[in-house]
Amino acid sequence: MVLLVAIGCESEWVELSESPTGFSTPFDLGARVPPDTGPPLDHGGAILDAAAVPADSRFRLGQLLFFDRVLSGNMNVACATCHVPFASTTEPLPLSIGEGGTGTGPSRAVAEGHILPRNTSALFLRVDTPALFWDGRVEADLGGLQTPVDQPPGIATPLEALVLVPIVDRAEMRGQPGDQRADGLPNELALLEDTVAIADAVFARVQAIEAYDALLHAAFPGEAHGFGHLARAIVHFQVELWDREDSAWDRFRDGEPLSPEAEAGRQLFFGRAGCATCHSDSDFGSDTFHNLGVPPFGPGIGDDGLDEGRHEVTGTTGDRFAFRTPPLRNVRLTGPWMHNGAYETLEGALRHHLDPSAAWDGYDLSQLPRTLALEVRLDTERKAEVFANLSPELDRIGALSEPEIAQLLAFLGALDGDSELLRSPDTAVPAFVPSGLPVDVWPGGPHPFR
Ligand code: HEC
Ligand code: HEC
Repeated sequence: MVLLVAIGCESEWVELSESPTGFSTPFDLGARVPPDTGPPLDHGGAILDAAAVPADSRFRLGQLLFFDRVLSGNMNVACATCHVPFASTTEPLPLSIGEGGTGTGPSRAVAEGHILPRNTSALFLRVDTPALFWDGRVEADLGGLQTPVDQPPGIATPLEALVLVPIVDRAEMRGQPGDQRADGLPNELALLEDTVAIADAVFARVQAIEAYDALLHAAFPGEAHGFGHLARAIVHFQVELWDREDSAWDRFRDGEPLSPEAEAGRQLFFGRAGCATCHSDSDFGSDTFHNLGVPPFGPGIGDDGLDEGRHEVTGTTGDRFAFRTPPLRNVRLTGPWMHNGAYETLEGALRHHLDPSAAWDGYDLSQLPRTLALEVRLDTERKAEVFANLSPELDRIGALSEPEIAQLLAFLGALDGDSELLRSPDTAVPAFVPSGLPVDVWPGGPHPFR
């Protein structure tokens, strides 16, 4: 099989040809390719033809990188392993599983991997999101771009600055010193300390692959290439694919009425229910941080085993257990919900807001996998610690009747996009990537939140 990847104008093509053991690649993948992803999907040429997928070379470069495990230390996890197109760019798991895990989507298992402290964020309409991550540690503010890691040149926006963060995180993508890569060589990224050096080493891996080098020249002609270009291409792909204003809400803004139920919900959301106090931006999130008293579980961050949210960034006592007000585009499809995926229904997450204390006391552990359920600490001591600075703005939420809760849920449903891409997300998945490493494919079965 030979795959032609369009670069630049339609007459330019880069040929990615298949070798007997994989694809032409500088890595000796031989028989060592982990067999955990099943056979590659036959897309019938979808990567080239899908009308839903734009075809410029910057997009293609970003798309292939997003699905390529070559960006991870051990070459065993890609952005798409966790941001699964079929699972609405997130994972159907409360807490994400880092490098060393196996499978993807509902079949993802911890295996040799790490449980991460938080739920995987969705990627819809993030281009103008001022504060990224649940704790806003990548942020554009008056002081410029705030980022937890030193960045290489060419990074201009929060989304671009974010790309390096999972790559340098040992548990998420980078791995440990002494680890072996999928091609049997030592994990060279794990040995570096400086995050700019890690970015350079990732770039060196990518540039060594002929097809990527050709795509870089097509996507960014006449420039001296570096990691910044990889980040820009990945963000371009994300934004082109997932920043779509094609929901009933967008049509409402163009003058088309919502359904009566969703319209009643809209009036509540912006009115008496007080939701827009916090969910105030055009993506229905905001760069405000609030402690909603969500039941904590998971490994936490740092030595105390707690995830203190915004406090991990600012160290301010008032920020303890406060998390970013998340964007709500396509939110019906991105469960489980909250920073740690504590709720397996959208209704559960909404009801939590109405009475966090009662929600804590009555928290239903059966919605968690057993290993996590065993760890949850809901005792009075922990509750007092978490509730010490519960967001006072929750008081803005008025009393809601049962029909009104249903109306709010109908309004949240009106934020679902209806593009072909959400219905057939596998059109975004390349049949293979230039490194020859396996591409994560949906293991089958229905999406749990559809
Ligand atoms: C091991 C799983 C995993 C991998 C691999 C991964 N992510 Fe994530 N991603 C997450 C989790 C978990 C979060 C939330 C983390 C937090 O808030 O602290 C997240 C958050 C994000 C966000 C923030 C969205 C928002 O609204 O704040 C973006 C953007 C993102 N990831 C892009 C990427 C890109 C690009 C890659 C590849 C370079 C990548 N991720 C790799 C799990 C993963
Ligand atoms: C005080 C500010 C505030 C108000 C008011 C508020 N929210 Fe939230 N909302 C948040 C924060 C913060 C989170 C994330 C909390 C966490 O994970 O710890 C959240 C989470 C959510 C989620 C889960 C999103 C996801 O991706 O996991 C939904 C849905 C939601 N809110 C809807 C609503 C609705 C509907 C209303 C009105 C009834 C509302 N919110 C009112 C701050 C607020």
